[in-house]
Amino acid sequence: MEGGLIVLAAALLLFLSPEVQGTAHLSFSNNTQVNITRDGCGVSKLCVETPNNCDPSGNSSCLFASAVSSVPVPPYGVDLSVELSGESAGYIAVGLTANASEGTSMLVICAQNSSDNGTFFFRTMQRNNTDNMLTPTETRVKEIRGMVNGNMIKCEFTVPNLNASNIRSSEATTFSVLLGNGSFDGSVLGAFNLLFGSKPLDLIKPDSNVPPTAAPTTTAPISNTTIMPSNTTMPSNTTMPSNTTMPSNTTMPSNTTMPSNTTMPNNSGALQPHAVLLLLSVLTLSVLLRV
Ligand SMILES: *[C@@H]1O[C@H](CO)[C@@H](O)[C@H](O)[C@H]1NC(C)=O
Ligand SMILES: *[C@@H]1O[C@H](CO)[C@@H](O)[C@H](O)[C@H]1NC(C)=O
Ligand SMILES: *[C@@H]1O[C@H](CO)[C@@H](O)[C@H](O)[C@H]1NC(C)=O
Ligand SMILES: *[C@@H]1O[C@H](CO)[C@@H](O)[C@H](O)[C@H]1NC(C)=O
Ligand SMILES: *[C@@H]1O[C@H](CO)[C@@H](O)[C@H](O)[C@H]1NC(C)=O
Ligand SMILES: *[C@@H]1O[C@H](CO)[C@@H](O)[C@H](O)[C@H]1NC(C)=O
Ligand SMILES: *[C@@H]1O[C@H](CO)[C@@H](O)[C@H](O)[C@H]1NC(C)=O
Ligand SMILES: *[C@@H]1O[C@H](CO)[C@@H](O)[C@H](O)[C@H]1NC(C)=O
Ligand SMILES: *[C@@H]1O[C@H](CO)[C@@H](O)[C@H](O)[C@H]1NC(C)=O
Ligand SMILES: *[C@@H]1O[C@H](CO)[C@@H](O)[C@H](O)[C@H]1NC(C)=O
Ligand SMILES: *[C@@H]1O[C@H](CO)[C@@H](O)[C@H](O)[C@H]1NC(C)=O
Ligand SMILES: *[C@@H]1O[C@H](CO)[C@@H](O)[C@H](O)[C@H]1NC(C)=O
Repeated sequence: MEGGLIVLAAALLLFLSPEVQGTAHLSFSNNTQVNITRDGCGVSKLCVETPNNCDPSGNSSCLFASAVSSVPVPPYGVDLSVELSGESAGYIAVGLTANASEGTSMLVICAQNSSDNGTFFFRTMQRNNTDNMLTPTETRVKEIRGMVNGNMIKCEFTVPNLNASNIRSSEATTFSVLLGNGSFDGSVLGAFNLLFGSKPLDLIKPDSNVPPTAAPTTTAPISNTTIMPSNTTMPSNTTMPSNTTMPSNTTMPSNTTMPSNTTMPNNSGALQPHAVLLLLSVLTLSVLLRV
């Protein structure tokens, strides 16, 4: 995607002097209704936000974005419908990047124009992830809707054919999603303050930002059948086989959230069922010894 976008942006910049930024690539919806909620997060739409789990329709400060992707059509990529909500006296922005620490991000900006009575303002920019510089781009965006209420800015839009030129078919829809804000005086967009950067998320999977819930039922098929006799006190002195040292330090994941990386941690994942089996075998052994 980046390569394609850069080439596209460079090609277009050849024809446009920097101060004459056309908006022909933007099409606005005449429906000004913007209603952004958490409804469907993780089920029908992918959501990112900061602070964690905040509610864009709620009372407290919440910078929130959601995305719904069309089914990918190989040569054309996906149409990505985005909602963005947050507070700023200038702009809020959502970015997509393959790697937040190198290359570039596609940044979509929703702003209030303080030199025009706080009216809604929309732009697409390219952010250099290394030096944070913003460069205007002509990314096509359609069905743009936006509203400003005080410092509350909300917008919805669709980026068509996202990733159309990308060859990485298997992960072509996987991006880190960035959230941030900045100043806007009516002509100059200030530096992008990165407030949140997600792990790589597959935009076509609404649940790709849902922490996997602990699923002991799947890892321990015994759970249903071997209900431990609740009050039979364990035989205290049945000498355990001395050498089967219990894996004392296999720290079970204390909470449900998986380790930050997206790839399943193979090692610790394999350890848990192992530890459970070991525990069960020891318990079974002690029960057998007692009988
Ligand atoms: C607004 O929307 C209506 C119905 O969708 C359409 O008929 C009309 O042409 C639109 N107006 C503009 C200015 O886009
Ligand atoms: C916003 O959408 C939610 C459902 O997504 C709905 O329950 C609510 O009534 C809507 N609010 C407005 C003001 O349209
Ligand atoms: C919204 O916030 C205001 C003050 O910030 C507070 O007085 C009010 O109770 C809040 N309403 C809800 C529904 O939380
Ligand atoms: C600014 O917007 C407010 C509310 O929309 C309106 O009442 C006011 O007249 C506007 N002022 C100017 C100078 O356009
Ligand atoms: C991003 O900025 C760095 C440092 O200024 C520069 O070396 C690099 O070429 C820039 N990348 C792009 C794509 O503009
Ligand atoms: C497992 O539990 C389910 C629901 O509690 C029950 O229907 C099923 O018979 C149980 N299976 C066994 C092997 O006990
Ligand atoms: C289990 O033990 C507890 C306390 O040791 C006792 O209060 C309870 O009645 C016992 N339950 C059964 C079913 O024996
Ligand atoms: C049980 O274990 C304790 C401590 O390990 C020991 O002092 C005691 O003699 C043992 N009792 C029997 C019956 O083995
Ligand atoms: C059992 O442990 C002892 C020392 O704790 C060790 O010398 C011995 O080799 C172990 N045996 C096995 C089978 O691991
Ligand atoms: C368990 O691991 C923690 C750190 O991972 C360590 O501080 C602690 O001493 C270990 N305990 C044992 C019994 O090995
Ligand atoms: C575990 O989660 C609970 C609630 O989700 C939270 O209160 C607690 O601080 C968490 N503990 C750790 C170690 O993250
Ligand atoms: C995630 O995993 C990759 C390699 O799989 C590694 O390079 C990277 O440092 C890891 N990141 C974190 C936060 O653990």
